[in-house]
Amino acid sequence: MTLTPGLAGTRLATTCRRIHHWLRRGKWALTGRRPLTPEEIRQQVGHIRWYHSIDLGHGIVTPGIDNSKESIRRIGLPQRLDGWTVLDVGAWDGFYSFEAERRGALRVLATDSYCWCAATARQRAEIYRRVRAGDHRAWSTARWSGKAGFDLARRALGSRVESQPIDILDLSPRRVGIFDLVLCLGVLYHMRHPLLALEHVASVTRKLLILETHVDLLDIPRPAMAFYPGSELNNDATNWCGPNPPMVLAMLRDVGFTDVSVFSGPFVSPLSTRMVFHAWR
Ligand SMILES: C[S@@+](CC[C@H](N)C(=O)[O-])C[C@H]1O[C@@H](n2cnc3c(N)ncnc32)[C@H](O)[C@@H]1O
Repeated sequence: MTLTPGLAGTRLATTCRRIHHWLRRGKWALTGRRPLTPEEIRQQVGHIRWYHSIDLGHGIVTPGIDNSKESIRRIGLPQRLDGWTVLDVGAWDGFYSFEAERRGALRVLATDSYCWCAATARQRAEIYRRVRAGDHRAWSTARWSGKAGFDLARRALGSRVESQPIDILDLSPRRVGIFDLVLCLGVLYHMRHPLLALEHVASVTRKLLILETHVDLLDIPRPAMAFYPGSELNNDATNWCGPNPPMVLAMLRDVGFTDVSVFSGPFVSPLSTRMVFHAWR
C-alpha cells in the first residue's frame, strides 16, 4: 500500500498516540497508579502551598509564588536537550526538571533536601519539635508542603523525572552519577560552605553547569562575599551568603570549570539581586 505524505503523517500520529496510551496504561498496571482526572488534579493542587508555577495541562497552572516562566528565560536553558542527562539540584516543586524533560532530556534527576524534608507527617512532626526547641531555621520548611508539589506535578504530567532526597554536600559520582547538564538555581546563597558545595556540584557535571544565585557587594572589584549570620537577607535565616560576581567566577574556576561567564543579570529587586552564570567543564 502506498500512502500520501498527509495520510502517512496522520497514521503516524495516531500510532504514536496509541503507543503513548499503551505505555501509560502499562505504567499504571506496573505502579498501580492510574492517571488522575483533571478534577482530581485541580482538587489536589489546592491543598499544596506551591513555590513553582507549573502548567499541568487542562488549564491548570499551579499557583506558585515564583514567576517560573520569566525565570526560565533568564537562565538560558538550551531549547532542546535531546540526548542530554540533567541533574536539577534543589529542584523543589520540579519546574525546571519537568521543563528539561519536555525539552527532550534523556534522563532527569531532581534532588533536594531542605524543602523536601517535610515530606511525611513524621518528618513534619520532627520539624515542629525542632522549632519548639528554638531552631528558627527549621520554621521556613514547616510552612511549605514538602515534596507533595513535586510528586503531584510528576503524576499529573505523566513524567519520568527521577527524584532523590539528597543534600548538595552528599552529591558525588558514586551517589548520583555524572550529568551532562547540572542546574543549581537559587541554592548557592543558602550554603554555609559555598565553595565546598560547588566542589560537589562540579564533581557530578560532565559538560555545563547553569548557576543562578543572589549576589551582593557589586561595587567591590575583587572576589568578595557577604556573610549573613542571621536573617539579614529577606528576613530568611536560611540565607547564608552573597558572593559578588568576581567571587562566583573565581569559585567556578577553582572547582574545575574552564570556561565560565556571566549569562544574565544583575536583576535587581527589593528582595534580592540575582545573576546567572554558565560554567563549562
Ligand atoms: C529558592 S529555592 C530554589 C528552587 C529552584 N531551584 C528554583 O530555582 O526555582 C532553594 C532550594 O534549595 C534547596 N536547598 C537548600 N539547601 C539545600 C541543601 N543543603 N541541599 C540541597 N538542596 C538545598 C531548598 O530545599 C530549595 O528547594
